[in-house]
Amino acid sequence: MTSDEIRERFLSFFESRDHRRLPSGSLVPAEHDPSVLLTTAGMHPLKPYFQGREKPPHHRLTSCQKCFRTPDIDKVGTTTRHLTFFEMLGNFSIGDYFKQGAAEFAWELSLEGFGFNPDDIWVTVFEGDDELGIGPDEEAIEAWLAIGVPRERIVELPRSENFWQAGDTGPCGPCSELYLDRGLDFGNADDLPGGENERFLEYWNLVFMQFDQNPVGTLTPLPAKNIDTGLGLNRLAAILQGVTTVFETDQFVPLIALGEELSGKRYGTGFPTDRALRVLADHTRGMSALIADGVVPSNEDRGYVLRRLMRRAIVQGRRLGIEPGFLPAYAGRVRELMGAAYPELVEQAETIDMWVRTEEETFNRTLEQGLKLLEDVIERARDEGREGIGADEAFRLHDTYGFPFDLTLEIAAERGLGVDSQGFEELMEQQRVRARATEGRESQDRTREALRTFAAGAGGATVFTGYETTEQATAVAGVGRQNGHVLAKLVESPFYATGGGQVHDLGTIECEHGDCRARVLDVVRLGDDQALVLEPLEGELKNGERVIARVDTKARRPTECNHTATHLLHAALRETLGTHVRQAGSYVGPDKLRFDFTHGAPLSREELRRVEDRVNEMVLANMPVRAITTTLDEARSLGAMALFGEKYGDVVRMVEVGDGSWSRELCGGTHVRATAEIGVFKITQETSSAANVRRIEAVTGPVAVQLLRKYDRVLSETAATLRTQPEAVADIVADRERKRRELEKQLRSGAAAAPKELAADEIVEIDGIRAVFEITQVPDPKALPDLADRLKNQLGDPAVVVLGAPGEGRASLLVAVTPGAVERGVKAGAVVKVAAAAVGGGGGGRDTMAQAGGRDPDKLPDALAAARAEIERALAS
Ligand code: ALA
Repeated sequence: MTSDEIRERFLSFFESRDHRRLPSGSLVPAEHDPSVLLTTAGMHPLKPYFQGREKPPHHRLTSCQKCFRTPDIDKVGTTTRHLTFFEMLGNFSIGDYFKQGAAEFAWELSLEGFGFNPDDIWVTVFEGDDELGIGPDEEAIEAWLAIGVPRERIVELPRSENFWQAGDTGPCGPCSELYLDRGLDFGNADDLPGGENERFLEYWNLVFMQFDQNPVGTLTPLPAKNIDTGLGLNRLAAILQGVTTVFETDQFVPLIALGEELSGKRYGTGFPTDRALRVLADHTRGMSALIADGVVPSNEDRGYVLRRLMRRAIVQGRRLGIEPGFLPAYAGRVRELMGAAYPELVEQAETIDMWVRTEEETFNRTLEQGLKLLEDVIERARDEGREGIGADEAFRLHDTYGFPFDLTLEIAAERGLGVDSQGFEELMEQQRVRARATEGRESQDRTREALRTFAAGAGGATVFTGYETTEQATAVAGVGRQNGHVLAKLVESPFYATGGGQVHDLGTIECEHGDCRARVLDVVRLGDDQALVLEPLEGELKNGERVIARVDTKARRPTECNHTATHLLHAALRETLGTHVRQAGSYVGPDKLRFDFTHGAPLSREELRRVEDRVNEMVLANMPVRAITTTLDEARSLGAMALFGEKYGDVVRMVEVGDGSWSRELCGGTHVRATAEIGVFKITQETSSAANVRRIEAVTGPVAVQLLRKYDRVLSETAATLRTQPEAVADIVADRERKRRELEKQLRSGAAAAPKELAADEIVEIDGIRAVFEITQVPDPKALPDLADRLKNQLGDPAVVVLGAPGEGRASLLVAVTPGAVERGVKAGAVVKVAAAAVGGGGGGRDTMAQAGGRDPDKLPDALAAARAEIERALAS
């Protein structure tokens, strides 16, 4: 059975049993999940459903989810089954069937769908845990017994094996796993599931998700009992295809073969080669999938995971002797293998190829540079008679130059040197601690958790009416307190809660009757719900009270201008730079907009101008801006841009400008009604925000006008100071700047000094040759040749010029000889050599011109005397 067939069999099995088939969520988890960097299980995109924060599209779901497990990066290739990127098949029940139902489905599909022999299936259940205060999972044991699994094939295992949770917080519960017994050929009679053996292969995990783990470590029952299951597609493929490792399954064989073709090495001929070929196969799948979901290589977070994958793959390719520039070939093959199941791999083909190619180029340069530095380090260590390379040196190579530590280890070992690995690990840990200290995420999580509890306790979700109105008569659904602030929840709220880059609204709440008034300080988004943080101005707000909620439109309107302008900017960037441009973060406030996007190089002036012009054209065209609610499938087929990392439900809000062909994005923000409201769009800055992520800041409307007016004023003032017209300022300043540089240069070269007329008594006649010997003050010895030239011109031919210039602890000498004097035997090189000896130095040069230096400026008179003696000697001989 091929991997594609397994996937389809699983999904259609559950579909025909009333499960809604969901597409895989993005590898980049939704914004509301701070507990993980990347999606690691099928349940991730469904978390809000399990927690009761959002309503699921159906109570039974099934999916094949793209997963990425960062902690396994180093294991890949050294074991038979570990992968970073894999597909997880799952069926989910949200408050519908529970343990019995999940066990029955798993049993039926194992037998009828995958053809397993019932006698070969063993199961494990949770044995209970004192710390958690939960006893053995009798209900699960009963469920399996009812199906007919004999008691001796039901094994109880501890929390470490059979209690599942995603990340430190969130939904969790005891689990039950299915194992396939491969028989005594693969192990011993006393082997058991869960142990370290090859006889029992785990293939399916059923999680009985009934608790929520909160940040302080307590378990609270979830609103409903749920089921979350996970079956690793690649592992099951290995079992069903009768091979011993996932790397021999249909999805990997063509990738291993590509490595063989490119390197000329054979799989199965030894550990290092096999490992390298496996790493390449796994990592190139992973990098393709990450890039397709909007990740770009960088030094932070997910971008760093991607960069590590790419760099590890490049290093392994080098080890195998594969010609550099090979990653795109792998990306192409990954596409062939998986493009049908994951169309984003095909849609994003150009972007994937672009990033893998540029990262490979950059990293190859890094490697060359790192290798050179490492050579220096090795040489120093040897010179100093050390046995190895210090931790700080290895860390600097890794941290500053991005040179992989394992390469340092390997190359050092080749030269018979060790590396202080323990010290290196300590430095890495210190760096991690520093990084954590700056995050401060925990306290944020706790605040949010408290708000969540408050909002959940105050009844159903607030209805957001802020798309239609900025003033809403409504009632208070709940009042609370936190850190000296008043919390409130409204039945209906016109206030936009911070999200999708747009800042929250400001405004006031006033009682319909009476004298209470409060200012809105913050509007916090809690899934589909929201909570207000208030500052009381007058009286006290009470639960159930009728109020008028007013949005401060002076902040809301400019924010809307900036939000729509952000969409226009996004479209203009994609049009100008290419479709690899994707939003990587944004800030939309009343003051300005900031837009981060994936792109590898700074924008040229011309590109910036073009982008700005295009946005302003769209503003002038006064196109209507409309929000449409539709299905995710419909939005996708219309080519709507989705912010990566954002989770979108079945029903999505799509914001279109004009007919939508130029700009169409999934977005929950508030926008202008027509683009002309934006007035004017002005880019103020283009910088880099992280590796391969550029940042543009811009202003619109009155803020832009104010800015332009400020520029105008500055220019007028400058023109007045320069006593000219504004139009002429640039030329005048440029001209003055050029002159200033020229003067500075002249000053440095000493040419600014008035050309000196030689007095008769400064000229010496030696045997028919005119000569000058001078000690002169110049700011820089580089000025000497110029001075010598001018003196030579005054002397005519044949002549000799000997100059000495004292400096701080050094003396400079220059000898210039005209051709006529050279013919008579005077050689500048020989003269300078003799003179330099007198100031404790050396030097030389051509026959007509030679320079030298020494340490002793006080001896310059002696040097000139020695020069003169040498000239006389040359003429006499
Ligand atoms: N979420 C469970 C797992 O990943 C099914 O194993």
